[in-house]
Amino acid sequence: MAARITVIGTGYLGATHAACMAELGYEVLGMDVDAEKIAALTAGAVPFYEPGLDELLAKHVATGRLRFTTSYTEVAGFGADVHFICVNTPQRKGEYAADLRYVESVVDALAPLLDQPTVVAGKSTVPAGTAVRLTERFAELSPAGADVELAWNPEFLREGYAVGDTLRPDRLVIGVASQRAEAVLRDVYTPLTDAGVPMVVTDLATAELVKNAANAFLSTKISFINAMAEVCEAAGGDVMKLSEALSYDARIGGKFLVPGLGFGGGCLPKDIRAFMARAGELGVDQALAFLKEVDAINMRRRVRMVDLAREQCDGSFLGKRVAVWGAAFKPNSDDVRDSPALNVAASILLQGAQVTVYDPKANDNAAKLFPTLAYADSALEAARGAHVILHLTEWQEFRELDPEEVGKVTSQRRIVDGRNALRAQRWHEAGWTYRALGRPVVG
Ligand code: UGA
Repeated sequence: MAARITVIGTGYLGATHAACMAELGYEVLGMDVDAEKIAALTAGAVPFYEPGLDELLAKHVATGRLRFTTSYTEVAGFGADVHFICVNTPQRKGEYAADLRYVESVVDALAPLLDQPTVVAGKSTVPAGTAVRLTERFAELSPAGADVELAWNPEFLREGYAVGDTLRPDRLVIGVASQRAEAVLRDVYTPLTDAGVPMVVTDLATAELVKNAANAFLSTKISFINAMAEVCEAAGGDVMKLSEALSYDARIGGKFLVPGLGFGGGCLPKDIRAFMARAGELGVDQALAFLKEVDAINMRRRVRMVDLAREQCDGSFLGKRVAVWGAAFKPNSDDVRDSPALNVAASILLQGAQVTVYDPKANDNAAKLFPTLAYADSALEAARGAHVILHLTEWQEFRELDPEEVGKVTSQRRIVDGRNALRAQRWHEAGWTYRALGRPVVG
């Protein structure tokens, strides 16, 4: 009989996981406390932008294999082989540490309703030691006691590629404290392991740490190349050529080595901070002290971007029009959490410019967060009358724009490429001054 699965928390991670589990052939119940989100998902509509997820969701809602609810009673009564916890763990306000209140509220609501043996698998990113603490809480609050077995199964999906990353992940990691939990999770993931996906089985703490370490490594790689961009600017080098040359070294590799405005989003920035906070609690803060510098390099890129934009406005933003292309924290997403693009746009607005933003998918989310910025319906509309254009999120459609056409609507031909993604030569040939982080002036 097909496994029965519940997925608690239906944001970017949970909604994708639920739809992908249905794709693997399981009976799935998705649960969220947000009634609006559940109404949309029940109607087969994804309440955010994630390529390919709409189709998958609609397909499995139609077959009835994937259903949604706001009720914990229904979740507990579903007869699930596994309950996956997929709620978010944001940064605590005014601190580095992770705010675990959503994970804890799932445990507190679910545990008293579980009266049969079952496995609960956490997928949320949590500090090391959380799973052990929650295991004790399940044992204390649940009628099934120690027969509720907790596992940790971190998720490595990227927004924008979430479906592919879930159905064809680079690896699976399952942290377990019992053979039964291991057997149940091995069963659930058999279609993936049969297709060759490696599975690493660990203890609970190691599984939590793998996720922390992966995001710390990725952040470090990005900040490394951005630090090289700073040095290139000072020494008159070209960081794009430097990055290309490094990428041919198989030990280094070219992925996550694209210099620019740096990392943002709902994961990397808060995850490295939570990792540092946990290391401090464990008495090994020195081991992760370098992440402070990784964070600092990353935040400096935003300041440098504002400085470059001001230079292109002849030293002052007062009375100037600035066009910002991109608002999402990266392309193929409408997520604006800790978006470098919006951070730059808002700083420039506060320094007296008229700032008009255009993003192919994230205008609405951006306007909720920064209602005082102006928003346009197209890249050209945003560029109208601009003294400078800032390219801050590298959507494909920006790469395809004709510099000649864009130049007809701006008041000056000046562009700063915050993502090193436009073809500098093309813009230069059309009479533009092209500036980018970590590269010599073109034009
Ligand atoms: C990241 C990780 O890549 C996932 O493996 C992880 O599952 C996820 O966090 C998470 O913890 O949930 P995501 O935040 O979706 O995924 O986005 P990434 O593709 O990692 O990009 C993060 C940021 O780094 C973006 O702002 C992007 O523009 C920036 N970046 C990426 C660079 O500045 N340079 C690069 O070379 C690559």
